[in-house]
Formats: sequence, C-alpha cells, structure tokens
Amino acid sequence: MYLPVVLVTGKNGQLGSELQQLAVQYKALFQFIFTDKSTLDITNPDLVYHFFEQHRPQFCINCAAYTAVDKAETEQQQAYAINAEAVNTLAKACAATNAGFISFSTDYVFDGTQNKPYKPDDATQPVNYYGYSKYMGEQLALKNCEKSIIIRTSWVYSRYGNNFVKTMLRLMKERTEINVVNDQYGCPTYAADLAKAVLDILQPLSNASFNYFPSGIYHYANEGAISWFQFAQAIQQLTQLPCTVHPIPSSAYPTAAKRPMYSVLNIKKILHVFHLQQTNWRQSLQSCLTAMKAMQQ
Ligand SMILES: NC(=O)c1ccc[n+]([C@@H]2O[C@H](COP(=O)([O-])OP(=O)(O)OC[C@H]3O[C@@H](n4cnc5c(N)ncnc54)[C@H](OP(=O)(O)O)[C@@H]3O)[C@@H](O)[C@H]2O)c1
Repeated sequence: MYLPVVLVTGKNGQLGSELQQLAVQYKALFQFIFTDKSTLDITNPDLVYHFFEQHRPQFCINCAAYTAVDKAETEQQQAYAINAEAVNTLAKACAATNAGFISFSTDYVFDGTQNKPYKPDDATQPVNYYGYSKYMGEQLALKNCEKSIIIRTSWVYSRYGNNFVKTMLRLMKERTEINVVNDQYGCPTYAADLAKAVLDILQPLSNASFNYFPSGIYHYANEGAISWFQFAQAIQQLTQLPCTVHPIPSSAYPTAAKRPMYSVLNIKKILHVFHLQQTNWRQSLQSCLTAMKAMQQ
C-alpha cells in the first residue's frame, strides 16, 4: 500500500526527537524518513535537491534550525545560513516536487511591545539576530513554496536536548537558591505537544481528496502566559527540589541577545483551521517531568 513519504530534517533536536517517538503511532499513515546533519545537511543545496529527487517526499517537516539565541549575535552567518538560506532551499525543493512544506519559527520575530497576545498577522520587528534570521526564513519559504505552513512557537522544552526546564532542574539540584527573570512573558511549549499537533495537521492534508493546502503563518504554544520566574517556580513545586526561586528583573541578568519582554502567542488560528486541542502549560510541564523520570529509569 502506498504511504505518503514524510521527510523530517534535524531529527536529533527537541522537536525532531519527539517526532521520532510519536512517528511509531502514525506508521500506518506515513512513511517517515528522519535525517540529521550527517545524512542531510540542509545548508547544502545540491544534497537537498538530490534527496528530494531520490525520495520524492509528499511532505517535508523542517525541524533543523540554529537555535542558540545569544550565540547568533556573533555567529550571524551561520544562523542565517541555517534559518534563512537553508529554509529557502528546502522551500524551493518542495515547490519543484510539489511537496508540502512545514517549517518552524519563533515568538522572537516580535519586539514584545504589544500588551495582548500576538496574532500571526501582527507586525513583526525582531529585536535580535536569531529572530531576524527566522523571520527571513518565514518570508523565503512563503515566497518560494506556495504549499508552505510556518508554525511560530515559543519557549520550547522537552526531555531531549538543551532547554530551560533541564537547566532549571540542574541548577535546583546544585544550589539552594536561584534567581530567574520575572519581567519577560511568553508561552511554554512542550515539544511533544507540538509534534502531535504537526502530525495531526498532516493527516487530513495527506488525504488525496483534500486538494486545498492551507498555507500561511500559524502560532502554536501551550495554553497560558507566564514569566520565566513563574515557569521556574512551577518546576520547583512539581519536583519538590529543595531550592528557593527568587524573581529578578531582566536588567539584573544581561544577555548577548535582547529578548522581547512580552511574546505571548495567540494560537486561535491553528486550533480553528486544523481542529486541534490545546493543553495547559502546567499539565504539559508535568507530562514532560514524568517522561524525563521514565527516561532515567
Ligand atoms: N527551542 C526553543 O525554545 C524554540 C523557541 C521558538 C521556536 N523554536 C523553533 O522550533 C524549531 C525546533 O526547535 P528545537 O528546539 O527542536 O531545535 P533544536 O533542539 O536546537 O534542534 C535543531 C536541530 O537542527 C539540527 N541542525 C542544525 N544545523 C543543521 C543542518 N545544517 N542540517 C541539518 N540539521 C541541522 C541540529 O543538529 P546539531 O545539534 O547537530 O547542530 C539540531 O538537531 C526550530 O525551528 C526553532 O527555531 C524553538
């Protein structure tokens, strides 16, 4: 039986790893090809075009990215090559083979001066280079592949890779007190929830009778807007680690890259168009902590 081929790039990142886990449950629906930098370096256009010719994916889910927000300030060329130029290449390869393209962007395309959740069509104004490189990736994808879905997400964490939750757990085990910024607001996103959303989006699109491709920009995050301090406090409460979390202003924690102070995403569009359910951030944090524990056993 023919199964639509789904190419996933960046398989070892947070989202790529969660997709690999989840793919097992979708194996009756899709034939997945998971790639990493060693099997498909997305910054190499020849490799990418050859790969598409050879495997003819019906969809490409691009989980590969340059995500080191502070380092991007000094590694601009590298960030642009992966987040903008390579996205352009993938989009063109998708367009040339009539594949649907799903790629991810960030809440950091916004400047954070708004006081209500950002909708996908609100004005962008990145305040750091990472945000700029991701914004350029969005534009190039939409320009060069008419079947492009861009999903902006925020504060991604999972049991895999490096993220805020893992950093907090490590610090809370090492120290009795930690300081966390309390004036930057956003929405945490459990990568496992995002992975599920992506595969639920693909399902109707892969149906032969579904001849409309809902291209455009979407937002996806868990439900609820909090500060990093509130996020850290919840990690402490749920794990009961013996550590006190203190709130501090961003001015007391200087970083190489400026962050938007408010980057809460309004995700109504994605829920409505793809009939998805949203999970509350605290519930998803608990799920991730449980998954982390299971991994250690
Ligand atoms: N993490 C967040 O908080 C956050 C927030 C908002 C949006 N997002 C977006 O969400 C998406 C998924 O993020 P994530 O947290 O899963 O990212 P991640 O954990 O940093 O994973 C990115 C993956 O891309 C791979 N990669 C880098 N360069 C590559 C290349 N040239 N060819 C192939 N693979 C390459 C990396 O491999 P190596 O490690 O070997 O380089 C890594 O496995 C990204 O688009 C990101 O920008 C993330």
